[in-house]
Amino acid sequence: MPVGTQGIVKALLPDMLTSIGYKLMLSNTYHLYLRPGIEIIEAFGGLHKFANFNGSILTDSGGFQVFSLSDLRKVAIEGVRFKSHIDGSYHFFTPEKVLDLQFRFKSDIAMVLDECPAYGLDKSATEKSLNITLNWAKRSSVIERPKDTAVFGIVQGGIFEDLRKKSALEISDMNFDGIAIGGLSVGEPLQQMYDTVAFTIEHLPKDKPRYAMGVGRPEDIITLVGFGIDMFDCVMPTRNARNGYLFTDFGNINIKNAIYAKDKSPIDEHCNCYTCKNFSRGFLRHLYKAKELSFYTLATIHNLTYYYNLIQSIKDAIKKGEFEQFAKSFLEKRRYGNS
Ligand code: GUN
Ligand code: ZN
Repeated sequence: MPVGTQGIVKALLPDMLTSIGYKLMLSNTYHLYLRPGIEIIEAFGGLHKFANFNGSILTDSGGFQVFSLSDLRKVAIEGVRFKSHIDGSYHFFTPEKVLDLQFRFKSDIAMVLDECPAYGLDKSATEKSLNITLNWAKRSSVIERPKDTAVFGIVQGGIFEDLRKKSALEISDMNFDGIAIGGLSVGEPLQQMYDTVAFTIEHLPKDKPRYAMGVGRPEDIITLVGFGIDMFDCVMPTRNARNGYLFTDFGNINIKNAIYAKDKSPIDEHCNCYTCKNFSRGFLRHLYKAKELSFYTLATIHNLTYYYNLIQSIKDAIKKGEFEQFAKSFLEKRRYGNS
């Protein structure tokens, strides 16, 4: 899923997203609730109509954004009180409230409210946090949902294997349509992130979609698909694009580098995206340095096409029973290119 926090992917028009091939975008309850607010989105008949997006929308619950963006927050069993990063106003989210908001957005997939514990939190504090997340999940699981909206539970538990297991088993027992693993990529070493997914997914049902939240680099996606993950979201392709970091199979290109000034070749000769079919590295570098707005669009189109093609290649390899070979050669190619 490309990230479209405000109901749109930064620098892209909805048609560009669909023409790359994407059918699902991630938006954020926290942001949309604070601005423009539920009344306005509801007045337009939901987020799809408001944003004129024909694909599907998954909304994150706001749990994670409350923890990463708002200044002050106070978590209790009822919910979380927080201060808006926009105007300093105070708000209260409960599991019931964030699902109601997402149902009124007409999200296709709604996420439950969770608390993402900070990396480095000790085990007893992580367990306390997990118990709140599980209480919230239980309350979320018994709420009646619109027939066209799926609701996903979220597994937490930090880096602790027994807490992750308890969380995975309890969430799996609840009435969710899919299961996410949260609390990843929050500062832990990469191997620990992989280990956490590996020992968590063991306890998740195979017949429900399994979603690794906020992951990741192309390498991480391939690795976690190998463990059984089905869904991902990450700001990396879009945010990196805006900062001039462009993805290719032979490593990433930093377009501001002077070696590209007179380079007439596209970002990637093998890429079929609009940007690569029409523009040189030299011109893109010029746009980046001149801070031309079209740079953000062109770079985002390329990076999202790269991620889309990556996912298609993974699906093809799985269908042909060649995933392991594909993963091995992909990881070698990228490692070689980046060195
Ligand atoms: N996005 C990335 N990580 C998380 C998480 O742990 N919880 C939620 N709700 N969203 C996330
Ligand atoms: Zn391209």
